Amino acid sequence: MKRLVEVKGVSNQFSDKTVCLLFYEPSTRTRISFQQACIKLGAKVVGTENAKEFSSAIKGESLVDTIRVANALQFDCVVLRSDVDGGAFEAAEVSKIPIINAGDGSGQHPTQALLDLLTIYQHFKKIDNLKVALVGDLKNGRTTRSLAYLLGKFKGVEVCLAAPDNLQMKDDILEYLERHNVKVSKVSKLADCAGEVDVIYLTRAQKERMKGKQKLNGQNVSINEKVLEKIKPNSIILHPLPRSDGFNELPERFTDDSRVHIFDQVENGLYARMALLKMVLS
Ligand code: NCD
Repeated sequence: MKRLVEVKGVSNQFSDKTVCLLFYEPSTRTRISFQQACIKLGAKVVGTENAKEFSSAIKGESLVDTIRVANALQFDCVVLRSDVDGGAFEAAEVSKIPIINAGDGSGQHPTQALLDLLTIYQHFKKIDNLKVALVGDLKNGRTTRSLAYLLGKFKGVEVCLAAPDNLQMKDDILEYLERHNVKVSKVSKLADCAGEVDVIYLTRAQKERMKGKQKLNGQNVSINEKVLEKIKPNSIILHPLPRSDGFNELPERFTDDSRVHIFDQVENGLYARMALLKMVLS
């Protein structure tokens, strides 16, 4: 897909296909990269952002009815960002056309994990035997849940979960990792594993998913000069974005550090989503 974009720019392979984008939660990258992926493949895109307000959801229509509508209108695929855990499964159950999960509440974000894995692979030319630190709000963030899931499919991977005690990874993923023989360690300070890992995957505090006001102390799950010094020269620092001031996990001044690959992730999101759409639309 990278070659296709670089050499041809746009293909017309799927010019007879239409994709429906339904986004019930805010999104920048995921939404515009899916749109761009459709355009690069020649497919047409229809949809709504902020579907909670701009669609009939505000009149009380259920997700499954909206999915039935997309089926009746003969779309070839729906890209769905749902605001509830399991929303994509619910949608798929009533749909004859494919549903791509573009994030479901604090559940999963599989296409983010694909692009993350692609970025890691590009750098190390392997996934097996890598040590990966998942950092930040592991309880409410869906990106680290999906990345942990994919990492469990490789051999010899070690995962260090660096999170404040009340925001640690939930049991379902811990059990999954155990079943897949992934060596897992938990720390409350990124500094305690920063020097040993190949990949540091930072995440923001998911304030919108936290009940009540919580005091956020990001100091232990953020990059600062001292932590950066510990990180190996060939390790990489990733973040699904948006980075935010909740933890201030990746301050602006570190953006140009050669180990930071956050915009390669965004670019790879285009290729990964194009590849997935091609599979689904073929
Ligand atoms: C993430 C998401 O929506 O889960 N953003 C993204 O898709 N890159 C991460 C986040 O919101 O923290």
